[in-house]
Amino acid sequence: MEKTFLMVKPDGVQRNLVGEIVRRFESKGFKLVGAKLMVISDDLAKTHYGEHKERPFFGELVDFITSGPVFAMAWEGENVITSARDMMGKTNPLEAVSGTIRGDFGMTVGKNIIHGSDSAESAERELKLFFGENELTSYVKQDSDWIY
Ligand code: TYD
Ligand code: MG
Repeated sequence: MEKTFLMVKPDGVQRNLVGEIVRRFESKGFKLVGAKLMVISDDLAKTHYGEHKERPFFGELVDFITSGPVFAMAWEGENVITSARDMMGKTNPLEAVSGTIRGDFGMTVGKNIIHGSDSAESAERELKLFFGENELTSYVKQDSDWIY
């Protein structure tokens, strides 16, 4: 089954949105297979956002993502990578439609509450960056027969 990496950013943690965000993915039917509250190191931030290292916002992005605890998560389910991106909404919360996490809770692109892997390759890379193999759990959920 497909897995993705999602992370409540420091603004989402400070604004008490961890529970709301977990609830949305749980309610949809996805399975939480890993989670931890952590402060990202400068090195990890630069590696994670490496694709943006030449962009003008890179320094601010690294400062922001390391500015406080994040809630890192691994989620599993059919089409979870694309579906989670749809549930997050567009990068700029002012362009994100209502009903999406960024659309419902965000105001600026710099503080847009949540990160989600944008492809299968990113998901694999980011899950490995943030979680050791023994930190991801494989288990059967009783509700899965009623979801699939
Ligand atoms: P990006 O990967 O383009 O967006 P997404 O998070 O939707 O995959 O950019 C990564 C983060 O960088 C984004 O969530 C917020 C920040 N960012 C800025 O601060 N300014 C910008 O102009 C862009 C494009 C992104
Ligand atoms: Mg991205």
